[in-house]
Amino acid sequence: MVSYANGLTQAQLDQFDQDGCLCLPDFITPEEVKTLLDKSKQLIHEFDMTNHPLTKFSTDTDNHVGNDYFLDSSDKISFFFENDAFEDGKLTKPKEKSINKIGHALHCLDPDFEKVSFSDKVKGVSKSLQFKDPRILQSMVICKLEEIGGEVPSHTDSQFLYTKPLELCGFWFALEDCTIANGCLSYNPGSHKRFPVAKRFVKVDKGKKGCGFIDLVSKEELENVPKDNPDDYKYVECKAGSLVLIHHSVLHKSNPNTSQNSRFAYVFHVIEGEAEYDPLNWLQVPPCEDGATEFSKLY
Ligand code: FE2
Repeated sequence: MVSYANGLTQAQLDQFDQDGCLCLPDFITPEEVKTLLDKSKQLIHEFDMTNHPLTKFSTDTDNHVGNDYFLDSSDKISFFFENDAFEDGKLTKPKEKSINKIGHALHCLDPDFEKVSFSDKVKGVSKSLQFKDPRILQSMVICKLEEIGGEVPSHTDSQFLYTKPLELCGFWFALEDCTIANGCLSYNPGSHKRFPVAKRFVKVDKGKKGCGFIDLVSKEELENVPKDNPDDYKYVECKAGSLVLIHHSVLHKSNPNTSQNSRFAYVFHVIEGEAEYDPLNWLQVPPCEDGATEFSKLY
């Protein structure tokens, strides 16, 4: 087992800088993988659907989730369903086969997720990425269940969590083997250096009642940006236990999971506490209209 408590090597840092994505195999132990996977399934099994608003999770531009259940989930363990889980308002499969994701405060509300999130390995990597006062936020388990796990369209994480300056990194832990067949991540290498942050997902009118995308660059500026070509994308097939680091501005996506194998992953984001956190970001901790930044200090 490789030790990551001392952070990344210069070669790994250089590769991350060049590609915008870096896969670190065997980052968490098989025991940690099993603990988090078992806990994810236990949480879903035990969650009480009484009074649940049956919120679906969708990330496409026209139909992104933005209801109160979603907005209030920043400091809770909440459950979101797949788009295709319903017929005539009723689940077509058991809830265990219908969930899209669990979020967004597993890192501070569940001891098993907390242990991995605040591990020396995560601290070591964050230090080598030059975070001075890193804060963890927006933790979630993405289930990507067999047959029903939906597509995640191409996006950058900075569209959803915006800081000034932009200092933010995604930590994506594979809890099961990720393959092209079960919808592994793919990314556009180097796109973080070629594409501007063109749009942002924000709370509409600073309110807490809905969200939407706003453009950050003009149509003319967009015309000068190279085209996001699907052929440029590179798949990140990896074994359970791998950590994939995702640069805030690299374009990434995943295909639907049409296979018979689920693809659970645990994800959180680290932001620089010294950077300005935008009050229009959907995620405010605790949930509120005016902006709140009670994020969990990593060190
Ligand atoms: Fe993402």
